[in-house]
Amino acid sequence: MRKIAVLTSGGDAPGMNAAIRAAVRRAAFHEIQVYGVYHGYTGLMQGDMQELSIGSVGDIIHRGGTMLYSARSEEFKSEAGQLKAVEQLRKHGIEGLIVIGGDGSFRGAQQLTKKGFPTIGIPGTIDNDIPCTDFTIGFDTALNTIVDAIDKIRDTATSHERTYIIEVMGRDAGDLALWAGLAAGAESIMIPEADQDMDDIVERLYSGYRRGKKHSIIIVAEGVGSAAHYADEIKKRTGWETRVTVLGHIQRGGSPTAFDRMLASRMGAAAVDLLIEGKADRMVGIQNNEIVDIDIDEALAQKHQLNLSVYQLARTLSI
Ligand code: F6P
Repeated sequence: MRKIAVLTSGGDAPGMNAAIRAAVRRAAFHEIQVYGVYHGYTGLMQGDMQELSIGSVGDIIHRGGTMLYSARSEEFKSEAGQLKAVEQLRKHGIEGLIVIGGDGSFRGAQQLTKKGFPTIGIPGTIDNDIPCTDFTIGFDTALNTIVDAIDKIRDTATSHERTYIIEVMGRDAGDLALWAGLAAGAESIMIPEADQDMDDIVERLYSGYRRGKKHSIIIVAEGVGSAAHYADEIKKRTGWETRVTVLGHIQRGGSPTAFDRMLASRMGAAAVDLLIEGKADRMVGIQNNEIVDIDIDEALAQKHQLNLSVYQLARTLSI
């Protein structure tokens, strides 16, 4: 293998730059050239790519976002789009591709391998919703951003003796909400993986109030609905005024944590190693702190499992 390419696709995640850097430098170690594809699959179909030197990935390990830009492409979902991409890769003499992104990006990678082009996936998304890996790149940074925001909101919640409802990202997964809720000591956590019982939420608010607690933090994963909706429900049932904060895209930015930089560095290098070994249609993952690789088809056939014992623990600790 002499020449490979790397792209980032879907929602950006802190640590993607560290993964690009690792892929470029691991490949250089093996005297393999790396091309960076700009704007995800959109750029791939247009042949928007350039060689990345060792120096071109210097000074990015600590930067959020992705130096290769990212996009979500409708055209690439079609057979014609995928064939265009393979044609561009072949035209540039590229022999293997690394895709850093979420499950949508992995479906694209799967299609490229099926069309005879060896592709490896690296899980990069703040949602932590990819099966077969304990963590995805960006999750830890987003989690820390959320916890920092909740700590600040807690100060004002305490001062004004109010209930705050905070909506966090995660698409259909509750990991960000759950882990942030446990780490920030939220009174209630609403996630798609557990039933949302409004009576229970209200009872928890009342029971805290009876013990003299006059403020509460409720975290709502975007996958269960909007924080504004739950604020209305609480108002209807209790008459209490609440305040709503939607954290939004602030969760996707910022300098990656040490954990995400390490994870990205390990995964970026592992993806290059897999291509050198002649493997394709694999995703890199981390399980019990060991870097592993899994068949992408097998991974995508599974559903991401949130650790419900953490949910039970958070409920026990937030009485
Ligand atoms: O997948 C990452 C993510 O940030 C989700 O948590 C969120 O639902 C979605 O992307 C938002 O997408 P966009 O940036 O296109 O609004």
